[in-house]
Amino acid sequence: MFHLRLAALLAASALLGTPSWVAAAEAPASIDPSASCSGGDCHADAGDHENIHWSDFTAAGECQKCHEPEGDLHSFSVEDPPDLCVGCHEEIASKLSSGKTVHDAAEGCTDCHDPHGGAIGGLLLEVEAADDLKPLCFGCHDEELVTQEYTHGPAEQGECTICHDPHASSEKSLLLAEGVELCGDCHDEVAELIGGAESVHSPVEDGCTECHNPHSGPSEYMLAAEGKELCNECHDDVVDEAKSAPVDHAPALDQAGCLNCHSPHASSVAANLLKPQQELCLSCHNKPVESEDAKLMDMQSLLEENEQWHAPIRKDGCSGCHQPHGSANFRLLKAPFPPRFYAAFDFDAYGLCFSCHEDLAITVERTRTLTNFRDGDRNLHFLHVNKEKRGRTCRACHDLHATEEPLHIRKRVQFGNWLMPIHFEKSETGGSCHPGCHSIKAYDREADDYPEKQ
Ligand code: HEC
Ligand code: HEC
Ligand code: HEC
Ligand code: HEC
Ligand code: HEC
Ligand code: HEC
Ligand code: HEC
Ligand code: HEC
Ligand code: HEC
Ligand code: HEC
Ligand code: HEC
Ligand code: HEC
Ligand code: HEC
Repeated sequence: MFHLRLAALLAASALLGTPSWVAAAEAPASIDPSASCSGGDCHADAGDHENIHWSDFTAAGECQKCHEPEGDLHSFSVEDPPDLCVGCHEEIASKLSSGKTVHDAAEGCTDCHDPHGGAIGGLLLEVEAADDLKPLCFGCHDEELVTQEYTHGPAEQGECTICHDPHASSEKSLLLAEGVELCGDCHDEVAELIGGAESVHSPVEDGCTECHNPHSGPSEYMLAAEGKELCNECHDDVVDEAKSAPVDHAPALDQAGCLNCHSPHASSVAANLLKPQQELCLSCHNKPVESEDAKLMDMQSLLEENEQWHAPIRKDGCSGCHQPHGSANFRLLKAPFPPRFYAAFDFDAYGLCFSCHEDLAITVERTRTLTNFRDGDRNLHFLHVNKEKRGRTCRACHDLHATEEPLHIRKRVQFGNWLMPIHFEKSETGGSCHPGCHSIKAYDREADDYPEKQ
């Protein structure tokens, strides 16, 4: 909030003081009520304004509507504003008494208005053109309001009364309207976006000036700060996470930052995303992307070429598994998953899969119910995964995003430089595979119980 400086106020009252047109001619000793005061040599310039207070202002008797003659001598008294003025301008009086905000300066009508006339219709002091009130307003207010690097057209031009009532208003800050209503008049694209959106960013409901300075500001779009620093003012938890997470996500940290994915105003997609989530992620992951430790696959092509999509992706949720801002886990995963082909079995390392899938399907050695990947009651998941050394991680057989085959069994898996084939064949009661790891092996769920080890 701008604080008026005493010096400015003093300077202003000096400026706005005595009218310059007061006649130099010698004053007559008495009053002639039938004569015009501005006739002849006397007060000739009283009506010498492009606009006078009212049309017959200079006619005989008109001056006395304000200047009360005191006896027969050429002597007058004039009531002080606002009483003088509101006697005729009742609408202003009622505005001042009913306004939620009243301009602190309002009662000094003649601080802004010349009671006789002015260059423009509003009889405004200092003002040369109705569409530039700067000389008047900045007589009392700090001009810095409109001199920061990025300026707002209407304010910078001095059209203050497009947004403010100079006397009083039923909104805060003497505004003619608030929030979307005030700004949306001119910014209809933003108003339409907000009106039609399913989710509106909470501060927008509190008013556009939660983020934009309506006059001028230090950053583009008159924002208080740039990019993620603006968001940081209210979402420091997310910004901290993005900056300090062990695995970071480039778009959350680059120039556009948060705005790579979010609208600052509103959206028809949850969390104010710019596009439906999957479309959003694939707008960048539609080609191989370099990360710190690998060249990431072209996810869009993988999904286009393989029609068996893992259920959470079918539901349009990359964020079912990934944390888009940054994460403690490999590949921005929401929970741990081992990063390599082999890993010593550790229950916690599979937190991601076990957050949705039955862990017993992997951790129980014998079962006839918990998994279909078994030979008789011998759990082949346990056999492959649950090893102290070189357990195969799920990726050895499954692709987590999409596959050609059902059950998310992949055709090939990266093993060093070799894209090793799996050759999985499903059968009625089991299946077989012939991967690079071993000769062809089959399993049959209806087989007898596997003999106990001797
Ligand atoms: C609407 C009310 C109003 C009318 C009508 C009006 N005046 Fe004034 N006049 C004032 C006020 C108020 C002041 C005091 C100026 C100020 O405080 O800035 C003033 C100041 C003056 C002064 C200067 C006195 C001084 O000390 O500055 C003269 C002279 C004057 N008026 C003459 C006239 C004449 C002549 C007419 C008619 C042609 C006229 N006025 C009509 C309100 C009026
Ligand atoms: C005797 C009645 C009377 C007094 C007292 C009076 N006014 Fe007026 N004022 C009028 C009339 C009549 C008009 C012309 C109305 C119109 O055109 O709608 C007018 C017009 C105005 C306008 C211009 C309105 C416009 O649309 O351009 C302003 C500003 C104004 N007055 C301010 C004042 C101020 C300030 C005072 C006190 C110093 C004052 N008036 C005192 C009668 C008065
Ligand atoms: C801070 C400066 C300022 C003060 C003080 C002020 N006015 Fe105004 N007034 C304006 C401006 C600016 C306009 C022109 C509004 C516009 O552009 O529409 C205006 C317009 C008017 C109008 C024209 C009709 C309207 O509502 O727009 C009247 C009448 C008026 N003022 C009377 C008064 C009276 C009476 C007082 C004292 C009670 C007063 N003003 C005090 C700045 C001021
Ligand atoms: C004669 C001095 C003076 C003039 C001229 C003046 N103001 Fe003010 N204005 C003040 C004072 C005093 C305050 C109250 C202190 C503050 O908030 O800065 C104020 C406050 C304001 C406020 C804040 C109101 C609130 O309640 O938050 C706005 C908006 C404003 N002025 C707009 C304008 C505009 C627009 C103009 C030009 C048409 C203008 N002022 C001309 C003296 C003036
Ligand atoms: C596009 C609309 C708009 C225009 C044009 C505009 N303002 Fe404002 N002004 C606002 C809004 C909105 C606020 C309230 C800011 C807030 O809530 O933080 C405000 C607040 C103010 C304040 C009080 C708070 C502050 O920021 O110091 C002053 C004084 C002010 N304006 C003066 C002016 C002056 C003088 C002009 C013309 C040079 C002007 N305004 C032009 C919208 C506008
Ligand atoms: C009287 C019409 C008008 C009103 C009311 C108005 N603006 Fe503006 N605004 C403009 C114009 C004109 C521009 C400059 C447009 C351009 O450069 O393309 C602008 C530019 C902007 C910009 C920068 C956009 C850009 O592309 O550079 C922002 C942000 C903005 N306004 C926000 C607001 C806010 C917030 C409010 C309400 C407090 C508001 N405007 C009220 C007319 C208005
Ligand atoms: C949470 C902060 C925030 C709020 C609240 C906010 N904006 Fe913005 N606005 C921004 C940011 C950030 C940008 C820059 C967008 C970009 O770079 O793509 C922006 C850009 C703009 C632009 C220019 C670009 C465009 O999208 O057209 C306009 C105009 C605008 N805002 C108007 C408004 C209006 C009107 C409101 C109130 C209804 C509002 N803003 C509320 C943060 C906000
Ligand atoms: C003035 C404070 C403020 C600023 C600045 C701000 N936000 Fe918000 N934001 C909020 C509040 C309040 C909520 C609603 C409460 C919550 O979910 O935390 C919210 C919610 C959100 C949501 C969740 C929306 C939903 O529907 O779930 C997202 C996403 C968001 N903000 C992104 C941003 C981005 C990006 C920026 C920077 C351009 C930003 N915010 C700047 C206050 C702010
Ligand atoms: C790569 C795209 C992307 C970027 C960049 C991004 N977000 Fe998000 N954000 C999302 C997605 C997707 C969601 C929804 C997550 C969900 O559904 O669980 C979200 C959700 C949110 C939420 C809602 C609450 C939460 O934590 O889930 C807030 C607040 C938020 N983001 C703020 C930010 C901020 C601040 C930044 C900048 C530091 C940012 N986002 C950068 C994609 C992104
Ligand atoms: C069911 C959980 C899950 C879902 C849903 C999911 N992912 Fe993944 N994503 C993973 C796992 C696990 C990895 C690590 C795979 C690996 O290293 O073998 C990964 C890796 C990635 C990689 C890096 C790939 C590489 O070449 O190393 C990208 C990019 C990716 N995911 C993007 C997406 C996108 C985009 C979506 C939404 C369309 C999505 N993910 C949905 C679990 C998931
Ligand atoms: C604006 C472009 C952009 C968008 C949108 C985007 N990403 Fe990324 N993503 C990248 C870039 C660039 C990298 C590589 C640099 C890095 O690792 O941070 C990356 C890396 C990744 C990684 C691997 C991170 C690692 O280092 O292991 C995953 C997983 C990922 N993105 C998933 C997603 C998901 C899920 C979404 C949607 C919520 C998404 N991305 C949206 C640009 C984007
Ligand atoms: C967000 C929840 C979620 C996460 C996390 C998740 N999945 Fe899934 N997965 C599902 C759902 C739901 C299905 C569909 C289950 C069904 O159709 O019975 C599914 C199906 C599967 C299937 C195929 C089962 C079938 O019957 O078609 C495999 C294989 C699979 N997931 C492996 C994994 C692996 C490996 C992980 C860990 C990297 C994982 N999933 C993480 C939710 C998840
Ligand atoms: C050696 C290959 C291989 C590994 C490693 C593997 N799976 Fe499987 N998985 C399969 C096969 C083959 C099937 C299909 C069984 C059938 O239906 O015939 C399967 C089926 C599944 C199913 C469907 C339900 C069921 O159990 O039948 C889920 C869920 C699943 N796997 C999750 C995982 C998880 C989680 C991991 C890692 C902890 C993992 N798999 C590791 C080969 C593997």
